[in-house]
Amino acid sequence: MSVGIIGGTGLTSLEGLEITRREVVRTPFGEPSAPLIHGTFRGHNITFLARHGHSHNIPPHQVNYRANIWALRHVGVDRVIAVAAVGGLGEAYAPRRIAIPDQIIDYTHSRISTFHDQDLEHVTHIDFTYPYDATVREWLLCAARDAGIDAVDGGTYGATQGPRLETAAEIRRMRQDGCDLVGMTGMPEAALAREAELRYAHCAVVANWAAGMGDGEELSMDEIREHLIHGMEAVRKMIASLS
Ligand code: HPA
Repeated sequence: MSVGIIGGTGLTSLEGLEITRREVVRTPFGEPSAPLIHGTFRGHNITFLARHGHSHNIPPHQVNYRANIWALRHVGVDRVIAVAAVGGLGEAYAPRRIAIPDQIIDYTHSRISTFHDQDLEHVTHIDFTYPYDATVREWLLCAARDAGIDAVDGGTYGATQGPRLETAAEIRRMRQDGCDLVGMTGMPEAALAREAELRYAHCAVVANWAAGMGDGEELSMDEIREHLIHGMEAVRKMIASLS
């Protein structure tokens, strides 16, 4: 089994990964965000990809999601752990909490969201009723338990366009829609992974209360950074506990 880890904001490299090789993959869809880093981590073959680039300079709406997923598939990854910073909407999703969501609502626009859009012999639809892979979700939840981390099992991830954060009214609407988490990179990444037949799940790290949800104050980037540092530490522990 080969595991792909897509690192998001706060996780641009994986400490402890014994790197064996860096690989620049060319894809029919252009350049991935960064070279793939192959290595081993606690007995697992891992391929790491920094979603926003190694120097964190690619904003969510400019990530080449197709190239990233195509590259992971091309090198033989079968499971993908997509790490992502999010805002929390529901009570249980407080800053620094880890969540393994089970549903998605897509509010993004103008992103190329499919591999199946040109030179088609026939129109292709994928089933996306349950957008995350059940096996990978369970595997992550087990790893969290083994690492002594109280991860939330489930929740609906709302994917927004960014790069700005949301207004308080947008968050109120998302709550009414049933969202528990809000992030900017979950889509079309998850849908492309399904098209590519990769087993994909999100490991979401809550960096802040979503706009208007905390004490009503504006969001502080310093606080977000601080929560993310703690949350990503927990993610590293979880990855170290994967069976
Ligand atoms: N909204 C969208 N994306 C995010 C947030 C947020 O509040 N926090 C971290 N990523």
